Amino acid sequence: MAKAKTAYVCNDCGSDYPKWQGQCSDCGGWNSLAEVKLAASPVQARNQAQFSEKLSGYAGGAQAGQLQTLSEINLDDLPRISSGTVELDRVLGGGFVPGSVVLIGGSPGAGKSTLLLQTLCYLSTQMEALYITGEESLQQVAMRAQRLGLPTDKLKMLSETSVESICATAQQLKPKVLVVDSIQVVHMADVASAPGSVSQVRESAAYLTRFAKQTNTILILVGHVTKDGSLAGPKVLEHMIDCSTLLEGDNDSRFRTLRCSKNRFGAVNELGVFAMTGQGLKEVSNPSAIFLQRGDAVSSGSVVMVVWEGTRPLLVEIQALVDDSHLGNPRRIAVGLEGNRLSMLLAVLHRHGGIMVGDQDVYVNVVGGVKVMETSADLATLLAIVSSFRNRPLSHDLMVFGEVGLSGEIRPVPSGQERLREAAKHGFKRAIVPAANAPSGKIPGLEIIAVKSLTDALGAID
Ligand code: TYD
Ligand code: MG
Repeated sequence: MAKAKTAYVCNDCGSDYPKWQGQCSDCGGWNSLAEVKLAASPVQARNQAQFSEKLSGYAGGAQAGQLQTLSEINLDDLPRISSGTVELDRVLGGGFVPGSVVLIGGSPGAGKSTLLLQTLCYLSTQMEALYITGEESLQQVAMRAQRLGLPTDKLKMLSETSVESICATAQQLKPKVLVVDSIQVVHMADVASAPGSVSQVRESAAYLTRFAKQTNTILILVGHVTKDGSLAGPKVLEHMIDCSTLLEGDNDSRFRTLRCSKNRFGAVNELGVFAMTGQGLKEVSNPSAIFLQRGDAVSSGSVVMVVWEGTRPLLVEIQALVDDSHLGNPRRIAVGLEGNRLSMLLAVLHRHGGIMVGDQDVYVNVVGGVKVMETSADLATLLAIVSSFRNRPLSHDLMVFGEVGLSGEIRPVPSGQERLREAAKHGFKRAIVPAANAPSGKIPGLEIIAVKSLTDALGAID
């Protein structure tokens, strides 16, 4: 028998080392290396055997393949299967593709199991569907399905954590869609390490992915995320799959957002919005209306802006609080916005707007737990800060967007027209926008204030 080899694999990033060391030189994580016995890995041996079989096939005088130009390839064979939820379909780029592997990540309690149970119950009315639950008992899942009033008579359930048994069952049932909840609890007998460890996750995912590709099954994997929001398990998992999505939302907020970070079949950065209700996850078709629930009396430090999420605009409220600081080093806190960008904006405000907040604590927050990663939030953030600093509310029907450059210029952002139209649809009457985004025609009901510099913008709110 071949001597069992050992390797030390980093639990955070998946790099491996022949010897143990205290810190992973790749990701810098401390004490993250775990010993992995590569028991002359049958998995690797099997892969190797398959591969050489294939190679010998090529050598054995196989016929040359038929070449096609890109334009000749028939695209009709890529049907999309609707998940039954418009928001989920949008994130997936139009629905599930047979043979694709989708990963849904999220922190505990985000609602991954609920979302998938609802989707599978819907899909099971049209096709064979199999739900593998490794974390919850069958009774728990059944109870939840019953409480949510889902169609439960077609969905096949299995409580199993062995990847080999899962694939054997699926081989018999031939489901069109297979959910594995979750990839961190399943394991393969061949791999000598605990479920959830790098090598288990990697090998299990590889095995399941190969199964899905061979049988043209839609495979949906549930993945846990670590404290810092990245996917638990090795990065290689994300390389293997076709579509990686993340379900986010604070436990104290009803709203959940589903965002795609990789999609081989569509655009990324599409945002799906759901609300967790007593009847499970419900899609929210007009998210702007929710994120914009403001009272009639607007206080200082609040500004509404339009962010562009994938293919649609979303109205969100940005709040700022500027207060005398008692610290030598005043606080700069950004929730839902980038912290470094806030420091930069405050410098621009001082230098080009003549407003000095160096002795003030500055807090900014995007209402509703939305994360805004766009530079189009710059101008709205600054105006909210100025409004709070002067303790002067801005008008209720004012909407703002635009990027602020280091020399105090206001730069245009993509899809300006669509943003303005969305604002008009929600009853906004005035918009402060970059001059280059000003529409050539009129937008009914909306007064456009085009600004070129920060000074112009500050003048417009005086
Ligand atoms: P779950 O889908 O189990 O989360 P995950 O699989 O991502 O860990 O969701 C659990 C949370 O959702 C739980 O905290 C309770 C809440 N919830 C509701 O508020 N209403 C519902 O109808 C359901 C099913 C769950
Ligand atoms: Mg779960």
